[in-house]
Amino acid sequence: MDSIVVQGGQALKGSIPIAGAKNACLTLMPATLLSEEPLTLTNAPRLSDIRTMTLLLQSLGAEVSSLAEGGVLAMSSHDINNHTADYDIVRKMRASILVLGPMLARDGHAIVSLPGGCAIGARPVDLHLKALEALGAELDLREGYVHAKATGGRLKGGRYAFPIVSVGATENALLAAVLAKGTSVLENVAREPEIMDLAQCLRAMGAHIEGEGTDTLTIEGVDRLHGATHPVVTDRIELGTYMLAPLIAGGEVTLQGGRRGLLEAFCERIEAAGAEVTEGPEGLTVRRANGPMRAVDVETAPFPGFPTDLQAQMMAMLCTAEGTSVLDEKIFENRFMHAPELTRMGAKIDVHGGTATVTGVDRLRGAPVMATDLRASVSLILAGLAAEGETKVSRVYHLDRGYEHVVRKLSGVGAKIERVKDDV
Ligand code: EPU
Repeated sequence: MDSIVVQGGQALKGSIPIAGAKNACLTLMPATLLSEEPLTLTNAPRLSDIRTMTLLLQSLGAEVSSLAEGGVLAMSSHDINNHTADYDIVRKMRASILVLGPMLARDGHAIVSLPGGCAIGARPVDLHLKALEALGAELDLREGYVHAKATGGRLKGGRYAFPIVSVGATENALLAAVLAKGTSVLENVAREPEIMDLAQCLRAMGAHIEGEGTDTLTIEGVDRLHGATHPVVTDRIELGTYMLAPLIAGGEVTLQGGRRGLLEAFCERIEAAGAEVTEGPEGLTVRRANGPMRAVDVETAPFPGFPTDLQAQMMAMLCTAEGTSVLDEKIFENRFMHAPELTRMGAKIDVHGGTATVTGVDRLRGAPVMATDLRASVSLILAGLAAEGETKVSRVYHLDRGYEHVVRKLSGVGAKIERVKDDV
């Protein structure tokens, strides 16, 4: 296993290129199952989660090949010869459940392992299943697997109002409804940029979708979809993560390809904390406006609210901001696993249920730390950028799921950071 070692105290200067979004790519890839013609994604990130989705699609009979140049992922699902998504792959990555809707829509049957819980909470998939039932799926849960069949062999248009906003359940239902017979209306859907990206890609494949970006999607099912080439939207979470780096370490960094519209609520909060964000032709440039960062309160919410996927990184910044900040995590019940690790670096954090109170300290101190999920890991690297001495973040495989070339990107703007092999 590898670790990342950061020597704190270097101000940052320069540009960081932002990759295509992991979470968009993970929902765009299963769209290949909807057509016998090729689907090509460009600007795809090179991450272990993308490799896991590649293996899953290949296990179903899809052809998937990736070219480093331009982040091209070429996929073809001409011959789907297996309709079972195995536990061994699904347990590694919850987004695997996103093959259920498309397989069911294409061939009228599918068997997909239930993903189980994970480090940030229980994360059930009941809403995925209820939405598919509303489109005519018959579901049977047996031995840890969902056995799904479309009544009469083909899904049919239906209406479903989500009781809470779910990104994944919206995606699964949309992926299924595009090939269902008739009109589907999905209410209280997620509005994340990744959903907009999926709708655009499906439309390029010939789907009829209206309302993306609002809370209601209306889909007129078609008999078949054709091939397309689609660029993956910019990763707003990678963008926000690196926007915090110069606020923590000092200096000025330009995030190439960044747009404010992807992260308005986040930009508003960091500006309230003392950041200056400028949008230019190259991307977003970020630095401290004047003097030290100040405390702000943060409440996570579905888009367009403050993203839960930036809560840990924001907490790392607030650890050395002047004053006391309150962070309310409203999406996942157990997403403060980074707090005890930040405390080991000298942060003052009290966690009660879904609320963390952070009182800024002058300086964090480097320490050996580890994290149990992706965003928590990167928050510890951010904290290490300004900490006194050395921070060693272990279990880097979490990071490899969602951040491409962290060491190259941060050392490119002057951070002292390296990846080391752990002694066994
Ligand atoms: N939920 C249910 N039932 C369901 C589905 C969701 O109760 O059937 C609950 C969840 O437990 C959670 C809330 O609804 O409390 C919202 O979950 P959502 O379904 O929106 O999350 P997701 O689709 O599983 C995606 C991202 C996450 C991100 C969330 C929220 C992907 C692959 N994952 O997860 O990303 O945190 O949306 O924005 O798109 C990450 O990248 O680090 C990550 C965890």
